[in-house]
Amino acid sequence: MVKGFLFHYIDFFVDTLSGAKRLLYLYHKRYSTPKPQRKACFMHPTKNDMPLKTRTEVISLLAPLLADAIALKLQTKQAHWNVKGENFIAMHELFDKVAAEVEDAADMIAERIVQLGGEAKGTAHAVAKQSRLLEYPYTIANGEKHVFALSSAIAAFNENGREGIDKTDEAGDAITTDMLTGIVRGLDKQMWFVESHLKETEQKSQRKAG
Ligand SMILES: [Fe+2]
Repeated sequence: MVKGFLFHYIDFFVDTLSGAKRLLYLYHKRYSTPKPQRKACFMHPTKNDMPLKTRTEVISLLAPLLADAIALKLQTKQAHWNVKGENFIAMHELFDKVAAEVEDAADMIAERIVQLGGEAKGTAHAVAKQSRLLEYPYTIANGEKHVFALSSAIAAFNENGREGIDKTDEAGDAITTDMLTGIVRGLDKQMWFVESHLKETEQKSQRKAG
């Protein structure tokens, strides 16, 4: 009888101890791990009269495009810094002009996201996570190769931009559609400048590949 009571008491003590340990574990987990990140599309209050659904949809379209624009700006600088060859000065200067235009585009996209109540995520970590552009080749130096790589990157950005134009139009945000139209129009022109540095033979092989 006394023995049974003793075992029961020990069991109760062990249970209580493991319960307390569990509580301690939960407490530790709650206060020692970083708070979970905010949702992908956290919205700030704004008097902008567009419906929340439209603004949220447009922001989710603009977020990866912002990452693409920042990645493209860096890729353009990569070309500007590393290009070598007979047309060095012309290409070096042209690539810097393209970089300036892409930087303006990134700025407009980021500010539009914030105007709509969202948060612009433009850090290196966010860009690495969200950009859909392929990595720029590091080892090239020849001007023709930079022209090919950079025009391919601009073309990929513009493809995503054109998709953004259609989708923001469908979503009913004419202002963002207009902004993206202006951005893609400008970068189509920059791509023309870049591609014009391709020699005729390269242009022919591009036509064949296309
Ligand atoms: Fe420079």
